Amino acid sequence: MSEKLILAYSGGLDTTVAIKWLQENYNAEVIAVLIDLGQPDNLKDAYERAINTGASKAYIIDAKNEFVKDYIYPSLKANARYEKKYTLATAIARPLIAKILVNFAQKENAKMIAHGCTAKGNDQVRFDVGIRSLDPDIKIIAPMRVWKLSREEEIEYAQKNNIKINVTKKSIYSIDENLWGRSIECGNLEDPWSEPLEEIYKWSKIEKNEKDNQYMEIGFENGEPVSLDGERMHSVDLILKLNAIAGAYGIGRLDMVENRLIGIKSREIYEAPAAEILLEAHRQLESLVMDRELLHYKYLIEDKFSEMIYYGLWFTPLMKCLIKFIEESQNYVTGVVRIKMEYKNFSVVGRKSKYSIYDYNLATYDKSDIFDPKFSESFIKIWGYPYEILAKKGRKNG
Ligand code: ARG
Repeated sequence: MSEKLILAYSGGLDTTVAIKWLQENYNAEVIAVLIDLGQPDNLKDAYERAINTGASKAYIIDAKNEFVKDYIYPSLKANARYEKKYTLATAIARPLIAKILVNFAQKENAKMIAHGCTAKGNDQVRFDVGIRSLDPDIKIIAPMRVWKLSREEEIEYAQKNNIKINVTKKSIYSIDENLWGRSIECGNLEDPWSEPLEEIYKWSKIEKNEKDNQYMEIGFENGEPVSLDGERMHSVDLILKLNAIAGAYGIGRLDMVENRLIGIKSREIYEAPAAEILLEAHRQLESLVMDRELLHYKYLIEDKFSEMIYYGLWFTPLMKCLIKFIEESQNYVTGVVRIKMEYKNFSVVGRKSKYSIYDYNLATYDKSDIFDPKFSESFIKIWGYPYEILAKKGRKNG
């Protein structure tokens, strides 16, 4: 009797071929699970492809709300960026996918989960560690780590098995997309010196010209974006709308070389218009409402938080604690941030909050100034004492 297996199905060539390959090599009954995280693929077509290729069942799971609430927003509140840049779209989706796969395995009483990650990437780590942290009894199979098929052999295998490859044909680029961003690698991008071709961009195709500009006001409550230009919006719609508006200005592109967990460097291109704008707006609102010590301490947490996401360590004790810390820090991150979008660029041009701790009368240089200058001299005297004393004792500070 064949054993049940849950396959993380994307609809692409690799995981489609994997359906047949898993049946042949593991005598498995393959249940394909397609998770909708806002990637613009045709999921109904993918569903049919899974069934036509021989999956015993296929499910399309809309996980967009959970993705935003429990994964994207916590990382937005943590201003999460790997190596100070990458907004982590691909990485932050992996623990949620792992969780859904494990839930399916338990419901279907399946003992195996398969995914289409390659042996060189970060995603295999995130899936494997996520799944094992949630259910250590599940056997994980990553066909791409096992089969030695070249791309040509893969296509040949597909043809031999009557898998329709005309619809599953993929470009020379490897692309991963969800609400939070689009990640692009391979092709000429593998040479870090070669400029990305305009054809790779989809979310930030420039539709505006150099004279165009536009203002936008983003409302936040407790660190979560809740409105655009005063209109309250559902979180998923807000992100989608922001991607569309900002993307048209060519905003949100990132070209970087990053350090993968498995020790190799890779050149990646990202498009994340909504993420870039929300992260900057959120950070700027924090600057207005948060005291210095919390803000600066939070920077340290943010780097660790980002690394934990990137390294696939979401379902861990430390992450649980970090999420609570970050959540607690957002109590007063409520207000409005004004953004100016321009050709290929944007900036925060205003911020306001009922919790603002900016004090005009202390900050101003005009006549409403209430700051008493005599305090400064005494303060600086004490502040500088340790170094003055060192100098007096003959130590060289310089
Ligand atoms: N380097 C990014 C990460 O590890 C993206 C990986 C997926 N990229 C892709 N083009 N398939 O999170």
